[in-house]
Amino acid sequence: MAKMCVAIAAVLAVAALLQTSTAQTTHVVGDSLGWLVPPGGKIAYETWADMQTFVVGDILMFNFTTGEQDVARVTKEAFDSCNSTSPIFLETTGPFNYTLDAAGEYYFIGTMDRHCFFGQKLAINVSASTGPTPSPQAPTPTPVRGPMTYVVGDDLGWLVPPGGYIAYETWAYDKTFLVGDVLVFNFKNKTQDVAVVTEEAYDSCNTTTTIAVYRTSPVKYTLTAAGEYFFTSTFSRHCFFGQKLAINVTASSSATPPSTTTAPTPSSSSSSSAPSPTAGGPSAPPPESSAPARAIFGISSTLLLIALALVH
Ligand SMILES: *[C@@H]1O[C@H](CO)[C@@H](O)[C@H](O)[C@H]1NC(C)=O
Ligand SMILES: *[C@@H]1O[C@H](CO)[C@@H](O)[C@H](O)[C@H]1NC(C)=O
Ligand SMILES: *[C@@H]1O[C@H](CO)[C@@H](O)[C@H](O)[C@H]1NC(C)=O
Ligand SMILES: *[C@@H]1O[C@H](CO)[C@@H](O)[C@H](O)[C@H]1NC(C)=O
Ligand SMILES: *[C@@H]1O[C@H](CO)[C@@H](O)[C@H](O)[C@H]1NC(C)=O
Ligand SMILES: *[C@@H]1O[C@H](CO)[C@@H](O)[C@H](O)[C@H]1NC(C)=O
Ligand SMILES: *[C@@H]1O[C@H](CO)[C@@H](O)[C@H](O)[C@H]1NC(C)=O
Repeated sequence: MAKMCVAIAAVLAVAALLQTSTAQTTHVVGDSLGWLVPPGGKIAYETWADMQTFVVGDILMFNFTTGEQDVARVTKEAFDSCNSTSPIFLETTGPFNYTLDAAGEYYFIGTMDRHCFFGQKLAINVSASTGPTPSPQAPTPTPVRGPMTYVVGDDLGWLVPPGGYIAYETWAYDKTFLVGDVLVFNFKNKTQDVAVVTEEAYDSCNTTTTIAVYRTSPVKYTLTAAGEYFFTSTFSRHCFFGQKLAINVTASSSATPPSTTTAPTPSSSSSSSAPSPTAGGPSAPPPESSAPARAIFGISSTLLLIALALVH
């Protein structure tokens, strides 16, 4: 009997390990930017962090050149004041992988010269492991609500964002756009404009041909149909430097029950959401969570059979 218990405990431990490892993600800090003094200041790593979900067991990869950068984990106080006198941890050899081994807030800075003051700093929140079905993959029903007005970029407005295109990507990331919603573009007259373009023009930043151009701020643009919308600027190189916004607009659900209208929208904030039955717009992503769960269950039951065989 004791043997049996030990075997089952071993199986559970292995299953737990498997679950942890499936949930592990490597986050390359700043993506292709890497870990350096970001051209646009600290907003670059703020917007980058906003787009990630950090779970215990995940890895932060600080991609930097040894001798030119370093990375230190510091307290919140040291982070806020860019004080690198007594870091919790310092690594001078890059690239470097840091494993997030506990839940909570983590603060990282570059300690060389005035790198931290110029924006080489990263603050993140790490949450406890969510197992094999992390919430970002869970679809949420589109809320029933009236038309909303969104100010593009919020206080940043509509311009060439200091941190590059990631700024508007981040801004749009957690928003749901429904037919009837209004986008407000705030900008300085004569130095900016708003161009509505095709996906091809958006991707290549070729604004020779546009669908529409608006030159007087503020531009109030009503989303009149479901589908993808692409916005950029006709000013020279603004698009290349990141003044571009792409959004997905779904049919309004205000007049009819949500179960019959719209595609589910991925959301970073919701953790308890049942997949909504959907009439399935072309863009409806299939629920992805069941496959890995089944795989783990399969492995676990195989191990259980092996363990039982060992007992006998
Ligand atoms: C790290 O940075 C180097 C140099 O910029 C780049 O070639 C490489 O692809 C980066 N690695 C990752 C994983 O992003
Ligand atoms: C930096 O932190 C150290 C100890 O962590 C402290 O002694 C020192 O006064 C701090 N420096 C500044 C400028 O706040
Ligand atoms: C960091 O992690 C990545 C992905 O897990 C791996 O490919 C790379 O070899 C690791 N780098 C170091 C220096 O450990
Ligand atoms: C972490 O989350 C808490 C609670 O949501 C929040 O108050 C805090 O500012 C966050 N910290 C960071 C570094 O994002
Ligand atoms: C830009 O698009 C136009 C048509 O919209 C095309 O004639 C032109 O060749 C394109 N320019 C470049 C550089 O691809
Ligand atoms: C842009 O110009 C229009 C018309 O001249 C004016 O009403 C508007 O206030 C200006 N907007 C800004 C942000 O200056
Ligand atoms: C719109 O949604 C589809 C399907 O989910 C996706 O492939 C596409 O990249 C999205 N477009 C934008 C601009 O977010």
